[in-house]
Amino acid sequence: MNRPYIICHMVTSIDGKVTGDFLFKPECKKATEIYYELNRNTESNGFICGRVTMEGSFTGGWYPDLSEYEPVRHDLDMKMDFMLDDMTGFYAVAFDPKGRLGWKSNRIIDPDGDPGYDGAQIIEVLTEQVDERYLGYLEKMEIPYIFAGENEIDVDFALFKLRNIVGCETLLLEGGSIINGSFQRAGAIDELSLVAAPIVAGNDSKPLFTDSVVSDFELVNAETKDGVLIVNYKKR
Ligand SMILES: NC(=O)c1ccc[n+]([C@@H]2O[C@H](COP(=O)([O-])OP(=O)(O)OC[C@H]3O[C@@H](n4cnc5c(N)ncnc54)[C@H](OP(=O)(O)O)[C@@H]3O)[C@@H](O)[C@H]2O)c1
Repeated sequence: MNRPYIICHMVTSIDGKVTGDFLFKPECKKATEIYYELNRNTESNGFICGRVTMEGSFTGGWYPDLSEYEPVRHDLDMKMDFMLDDMTGFYAVAFDPKGRLGWKSNRIIDPDGDPGYDGAQIIEVLTEQVDERYLGYLEKMEIPYIFAGENEIDVDFALFKLRNIVGCETLLLEGGSIINGSFQRAGAIDELSLVAAPIVAGNDSKPLFTDSVVSDFELVNAETKDGVLIVNYKKR
């Protein structure tokens, strides 16, 4: 395969939602614990999240003052990726098309010190819409970046580069709904690992995939633990 094997790993509600207040209710606590445990125990080269999830989980909405950074100019038809000489094998891949995430370190600092996240090498996936001073900021911070698309991130192209430039063989796709939808439409989800909490999320929550298309999966495992349903599907 010319891209990493992708396992979409998510906590869901009974009604198949993945965002919103239900995630913080007591009924979701066990599911969340199991989710993090599975994240730690699943062999992979790291995880991918959308810009909104990265902001909520790790950067808290902080943004650098770009006037402090030199623009990195690229030829119009030749946007160059930026890699470090010394990259570890565990990555936090941020789909951040316009370069809106403000990192204070080039590695994830997990608020709970969870080894499933803490210390992961950040990689930014960008489009050509990014401010060239943001590239200067990333390079100063020693945060690798790859270009994958003009306006939208081209999921296939991003995954091709993550496999062939970075060397990722397996990555967890960990939300939210928008990024999951873009992978589902690209046919880039090989496996689903869902931890279903015994709660209905309601209308203010978003589904597992935003703007999904019909596609086939095969049930490979289903089990329960502490009142939580853990279910795995593979792409047919
Ligand atoms: N249930 C779970 O297990 C779980 C796991 C993780 C997160 N979550 C929840 O999910 C929520 C966020 O989900 P969300 O659906 O609102 O946002 P999201 O998927 O986390 O991020 C969406 C943003 O990422 C960028 N993006 C992602 N894919 C792209 C693509 N193919 N092309 C271009 N840009 C792309 C865009 O950034 P721009 O807006 O900058 O263009 C897009 O608006 C969080 O609040 C969190 O609570 C739940």
